[in-house]
Amino acid sequence: MTKKRRLGILTGGGDCPGLNAVIRAIAKPAIQEYGFEVIGFEDGYLGLIEKRFRILSDTDVSGILSRGGTILGTSNRSNPFKQTYRKGRETVFKDVSKAVLKTVAGMNLEGLIAIGGDGTLSIAERLFNMGLNVIGVPKTIDNDLSDTDVTFGFDSAVAVATEALDRLHTTAESHHRVMILEVMGRYAGWIALYAGVAGGGDAILIPEIPFHMPSLYRLFSHRLKLGKKFSIVVVAEGAYPFKGERKVARLVKESTDPVRLGGIAAFLAEEIESHTRLETRSTVLGHLQRGGSPTAYDRILATQFGNGALRLFLDGKFGEMVALHGNEINSVKLRDAIGKLKTVPLNHALIQTARSVGTSFGD
Ligand code: F6P
Repeated sequence: MTKKRRLGILTGGGDCPGLNAVIRAIAKPAIQEYGFEVIGFEDGYLGLIEKRFRILSDTDVSGILSRGGTILGTSNRSNPFKQTYRKGRETVFKDVSKAVLKTVAGMNLEGLIAIGGDGTLSIAERLFNMGLNVIGVPKTIDNDLSDTDVTFGFDSAVAVATEALDRLHTTAESHHRVMILEVMGRYAGWIALYAGVAGGGDAILIPEIPFHMPSLYRLFSHRLKLGKKFSIVVVAEGAYPFKGERKVARLVKESTDPVRLGGIAAFLAEEIESHTRLETRSTVLGHLQRGGSPTAYDRILATQFGNGALRLFLDGKFGEMVALHGNEINSVKLRDAIGKLKTVPLNHALIQTARSVGTSFGD
């Protein structure tokens, strides 16, 4: 009896709408057309380290296209090169990468498809350099991964933030208030920029353009003179005042990405109220941007990415990451995609477009 070919999948880092669509797009044809046994590692690299996995059946990957989260679970605190363990009261770090490679070899896996953001894909690249057959799939709501035009999850996050802005508009207008919406995105302003334009923000504050408070005060008073008694500010969690600092909500030491940003909306609300006497409220959208169903765009992109990743796998193009360039799904070397944050270029067309309709960037 011939043994089945085996392929492994894991989802790492923060979850994101569209992960299940990628898993489905890999596993369905892998099982049905190519006769693979598809192994799903649980909770990202943690499953690989702790040998926790399950064989995915066709039924497991049916009906999950529109489901948020990941059926495999994820973790952003696991890293085979720096895994955390408790030793009494202390936290110690261990490099268990060699053991991980042994596990994969022992399971007769032809390779692994790692779906994740910069942290997950950087680990994938290191494992590839040690001899593991790895393919990467770029995921993040932040859209900050280099060498792909877009990552799946971004469109869904923008849709949630846009809906929130629509809702904030009506209450802001009724109460004549300044409403501030803090959105995610880490050190990049993509979500704030796109949602800000789609939701008609009066000011969009992004990390790429440090803001000046007086510029915001001028905006509010200009709007008041025009009879507009409310204002909407969209602020990226990584935005900061000129010569000021980013607001950090907390540090997660064990994470590959320890800094958790947050708090800029509350800071703005206090400053605005005390300087202008305009009644101001802040809303932090938080993980609502990451949960729930992917948009149609993300379902399609994730399906294309899953399909592209399987093709790369079948063609033996290990060490590569599936990517979107224009309308084409192709691939790039993992080493070229990782470690370079893709921020919003200052000459981005959407910044100019937003300015043309009177949106301020606080500069
Ligand atoms: O990278 C995705 C992201 O949602 C960021 O936008 C945000 O800063 C971070 O993850 C939040 O991480 P956690 O879920 O660990 O709080």
